[in-house]
Amino acid sequence: MAATTPLYDTYLRAPLRFERGEGVWLIAEDGTRYLDFAAGVAVNSLGHAHPHLVEALKAQAEKLWHVSNLYDVPGQESLARRLTAVTFADRVFFTNSGAEALECAIKTARRYHFAKGHPERFHVITFEGAFHGRTIATIAAGGQQKYIEGFGPKAPGFYQVPFGDIAAVKTAINDETAAILVEPIQGEGGIRLASKEFMQELRALCDEFGLLLILDEVQCGVGRTGKLFAHEWSGIKPDIMAVAKGIGGGFPLGACLATEAAAAGMVAGTHGSTYGGNPLAMAVGNAVLDVVLADGFLENVRDVALVFRQGLASLKDRFPDVIEEIRGDGLMLGIKAKVPSADFLKTIRVEKLLAVPAGENVLRLLPPLITTAAEAREGLARLERAAEAVHAKSGTAAA
Ligand SMILES: Cc1ncc(COP(=O)(O)O)c(C=O)c1O
Repeated sequence: MAATTPLYDTYLRAPLRFERGEGVWLIAEDGTRYLDFAAGVAVNSLGHAHPHLVEALKAQAEKLWHVSNLYDVPGQESLARRLTAVTFADRVFFTNSGAEALECAIKTARRYHFAKGHPERFHVITFEGAFHGRTIATIAAGGQQKYIEGFGPKAPGFYQVPFGDIAAVKTAINDETAAILVEPIQGEGGIRLASKEFMQELRALCDEFGLLLILDEVQCGVGRTGKLFAHEWSGIKPDIMAVAKGIGGGFPLGACLATEAAAAGMVAGTHGSTYGGNPLAMAVGNAVLDVVLADGFLENVRDVALVFRQGLASLKDRFPDVIEEIRGDGLMLGIKAKVPSADFLKTIRVEKLLAVPAGENVLRLLPPLITTAAEAREGLARLERAAEAVHAKSGTAAA
């Protein structure tokens, strides 16, 4: 029988087709307007069709699209300088995606020990519930069987321990350990926060055992928590960090950031990418930083986050049979549902609000960082109607 689509069946897509976007709104082909608190899974950090990003992309598109990494790309230099000026990092490698940023981070950590004469130190400790991407190495790093199954042997050198369990991390460290890899906030895992203490203890363990601390800030970075990077809340600095999603605002762009010492093994010829750091991506990345680093931008993220927190807390109090817990930080929020989260998600969509599923029966709200307090309240009102509908339905079912 002929397939109904020539596409791989790998995605379970909702039956929606969008034609254009304006700020926090997505407009479907039939003209229906949806409040987009999914933001391309934390990608459209500045919403849709942000004028500064559109202008930057158009201007670059008229000049030069691609030259390869055989030549200097000035946009790479400027974006890397700006990123290193505002972070722990001294060096940057640009990629096209989050998984590629993670691949670079893992390779950087392994080469660090290799260059020091310890090729046996290539093991990376990671955490249960983690998600680091879909490449052969990053599915092994995430360790989730549902992503690993059927793709041959799990790539060697990745060991998962329970998230937040510092004793388990300590037990897992041995002479072959190269690094610890952690998301400061697990996104796909269900908006699970690493505590400040846990982050500090991981840093201390890395220092004690000569390991590199790799942070995956692909989802929680670039202003999402109200700081430029989520780890800043815990006052620690990583050795290596993977970034993507929000840094490109919708253009495929990722980056691996590292200290001078951590990046020491990554000499000429050890790594590369055809498209990584392409002039179009660099123009957009620089434009995103123009906005995110502007005075007051992150403060506004924190203010709007407060509106969400208060509104969500009150929804939880009013609908305890629908909402079990509110999670998250800044504009990376999770609603742990009491009912099946897929049902809640569908009801939310009836209210023309978009959210994202996650592990542990959690719905993620990842609104664009430009969301205003009024738009946040509009979203909360839609959530309230959805919670009411679910409540009424489950009440009827129980009766
Ligand atoms: C924390 C985290 N790391 C890595 C990735 C992989 O990024 P990409 O899909 O761009 O490869 C994701 C994507 O959802 C993510 O959330």
